[in-house]
Amino acid sequence: TIKIIGMVIVAYLLGAIPSGLWIGQTFYHKDIRKLGSGNIGTTNTFRELGPKAGVVVLLMDVLKGTLAASQPYLLGVSHSVNPLLIGIFASLGHTFSVFDHFHGGKAVATSAGILLAYNPPLFALACAIFITTLLLTSMASCASIVGITSIFIIALCEHDLILSCVAGILTALVLWRHKSNIIRIITGNESLVSFGLVYYL
Ligand code: G3P
Repeated sequence: TIKIIGMVIVAYLLGAIPSGLWIGQTFYHKDIRKLGSGNIGTTNTFRELGPKAGVVVLLMDVLKGTLAASQPYLLGVSHSVNPLLIGIFASLGHTFSVFDHFHGGKAVATSAGILLAYNPPLFALACAIFITTLLLTSMASCASIVGITSIFIIALCEHDLILSCVAGILTALVLWRHKSNIIRIITGNESLVSFGLVYYL
């Protein structure tokens, strides 16, 4: 039990690291929360601080989820503690960060990182779905929503109970955090990813 509590706390704290906010403040002297969509995630970092910062934030945010969910493997308890059930706390940390007054990002990259630790081929499929949707719509938000929802549907079809539950919760979280994006998509006002950005991705 102590191990589980420890892993949950570490997962939350890893997830809570506001990469976009700290990279922006440290290296660009800019508050990403006051720029563009105001989100601290990869998309807004690309948009406002450029591709170099965007790539770093993407890698950091994915890595947070991967490290958090890898703990049961690293401690040799993955047979009794499902990595997804630990990893989910990284996405919660990312969204409700103790380092940002319990605000945070939209849970996409960190959730992808959890999937990378749990099932790399499924992570690759999620990336392929994300990139395809991004190329078709030029909307990172739309690609994020389609990507995570697809994983939820695949988990249901595969009868993977724990993945279904965790992906269901994360899909709900991602949809909720994308409320304003969804309104912009419906009204045709969502910001588009330029070809330059796609090229850099
Ligand atoms: O991962 C966040 C992305 O889906 C949307 O970001 O900045 O366009 O709201 P943004």
